[in-house]
Amino acid sequence: MKILVTGGAGFIGSHIVDAYIAAGHDVAVIDNLSTGRRENIQHAARFYELDIRSKAIGEVFERERFDVVNHQAAQIDVRKSVKDPVEDASVNILGGLNLLESARRTGVDKIIFSSTGGAIYGEQDCFPADESHPTRPVSPYGVAKLALEHYLFYYRQAHGLEYCVLRYANVYGPRQNSNGEAGVVAIFTSKMLTGEQPVINGDGHQTRDYVYVSDVARANVLALSLDHSDVFNIGTGIETDVRQLLHMLSGLIGARAPEVYAPAKAGEQMRSVISWRKVHDALGWQPDTPLEEGLRRTVDSFRKALV
Ligand SMILES: NC(=O)c1ccc[n+]([C@@H]2O[C@H](COP(=O)([O-])OP(=O)(O)OC[C@H]3O[C@@H](n4cnc5c(N)ncnc54)[C@H](O)[C@@H]3O)[C@@H](O)[C@H]2O)c1
Repeated sequence: MKILVTGGAGFIGSHIVDAYIAAGHDVAVIDNLSTGRRENIQHAARFYELDIRSKAIGEVFERERFDVVNHQAAQIDVRKSVKDPVEDASVNILGGLNLLESARRTGVDKIIFSSTGGAIYGEQDCFPADESHPTRPVSPYGVAKLALEHYLFYYRQAHGLEYCVLRYANVYGPRQNSNGEAGVVAIFTSKMLTGEQPVINGDGHQTRDYVYVSDVARANVLALSLDHSDVFNIGTGIETDVRQLLHMLSGLIGARAPEVYAPAKAGEQMRSVISWRKVHDALGWQPDTPLEEGLRRTVDSFRKALV
């Protein structure tokens, strides 16, 4: 298949590009390198350095005639979305729509969209949440992801453009960017490896569902074979709190940093954990990498990158 991966220079997108190329697909990448890195993209993929909001996107679609668009590019920082909801919506809603319009015009068969299984549900009523859980996003980031899910439903109804929405839990692993405020595993790991003090925002009891990036990339490969449009959670169903995570990482790294706390950040929920039963039934996916093992691989790769 001929596949476009937007955000393919980023953390998750670059692992998806690798998995698609390994499966024999023809892959192109669109990325503006705002948080992604050129060196994350393998040579076998064609690279267009473009913003998903730009008009030039249409020309790329006309020339390439993609079968599938896997849309990973996004403003990913929940806290930035709280500070500047207009910029967040500009990338995450209008940028997405720009792609959907080009996809519709050029006969793309399917969109695979990276949504969120955290911010979209808001504070959960039940644990783990399945896909039928009410959506009550408490951040502009979550609102924008939900809006694009609704647009996908509309494009399916109005134009026959099929979709597969994957609502990721907290993804972690090699190549995650530790410079922003998103991605607690990457931030803690790089701080501990360089002797800096990691800071826990809030009381440390807030929980997340940590899913390893290779498992997420595999879900994106399986999504290619879905024969209808649907929405799936991609998580582990296991809750881990921030203090536990810090302890596991300091054990692996051998760091002995004291626990330092700062006030909780706006727009973030207390508990988040999602069920993977539906995607297992539909596509045979399940999380294969235990947290301890995934963290070990992450620490190893961050360590190598420092040398
Ligand atoms: N990391 C997680 O835990 C997580 C959880 C849920 C959903 N997601 C979603 O997964 C996707 C990938 O996230 P990631 O963690 O790999 O982040 P990332 O920042 O590493 O990747 C995003 C990529 O998109 C690119 N990009 C951003 N704005 C762009 C624009 N306007 N035009 C073109 N390219 C642009 C960036 O340069 C980057 O390469 C995002 O859609 C994110 O919302 C991530």
